[in-house]
Amino acid sequence: MAQDKNPRLQEVKARVETSHHITDLDHKLHFYDHWATNYDQDVATLQYRAPSLAVSCLAQALTIPPAEALILDAACGTGLVAVELTTRGFVQLHGVDGSAGMLAQARARGLYQNLQLCTLGHEPLPSPEGTYDAVLMVGALSDAQVPYSAIPELLRVTKPGGLLCLTTRSNLSNLPYKTSMEAMLDKLEQAGAWERLVAWPVDQWELATSEQEVVSDPSASTADPSFISGIVYLYRKSLQRPQA
Ligand SMILES: C[S@@+](CC[C@H](N)C(=O)[O-])C[C@H]1O[C@@H](n2cnc3c(N)ncnc32)[C@H](O)[C@@H]1O
Repeated sequence: MAQDKNPRLQEVKARVETSHHITDLDHKLHFYDHWATNYDQDVATLQYRAPSLAVSCLAQALTIPPAEALILDAACGTGLVAVELTTRGFVQLHGVDGSAGMLAQARARGLYQNLQLCTLGHEPLPSPEGTYDAVLMVGALSDAQVPYSAIPELLRVTKPGGLLCLTTRSNLSNLPYKTSMEAMLDKLEQAGAWERLVAWPVDQWELATSEQEVVSDPSASTADPSFISGIVYLYRKSLQRPQA
């Protein structure tokens, strides 16, 4: 990897690689607490594009004016998704995250009206059923972060007919998680909870932390081996409750 001659990039890759190997959630959230002040700079170095990809996918499908939409950014981190949403005219933004350090950075941006500490998958979201026009979770559905068992809770707080935008990585170590998560997404669709509008595979998700993490997909002949791939999903919650 040619970029590895850059010592700053090497340092960032080592930090992110460390984070990928933390399998205990408490440990991982502590890691984020300490990473919070450098997070934005580090992910910019990695050319992390998930927030802009997810928000552009959501914005194209939303049928109400952005200024009228109440949005939940789940696992909001430092607020990079809010930056993208604000650029597109969204102004009613709530966020939750399991790391107090990351939330402090998000609060400092001044873009969210409401920010709360919440460990997704372990406690309920602090909102009544059917609150949000759209819910996003970007960059957080992976091993030892947010378990995909948290997805029904995202659905609960979404309005009937509202949108849910989710992302995950397709790097080698995340593939077992991604496969199991997709089985659950499909099951929810078969049960009538939501319908899939988009599944958008993206080759250049972010720079790979190691060559082993790059998955060689024969259909992606133009894939750059410096990058890992990822995927953006967009769902619309059903108007009717699914049958039990
Ligand atoms: C890679 S960052 C993504 C942040 C932001 N969405 C973005 O795209 O920049 C992952 C975030 O998920 C949060 N997180 C990880 N596991 C969590 C959990 N179980 N509950 C709540 N937040 C969690 C971390 O604290 C961190 O802020």
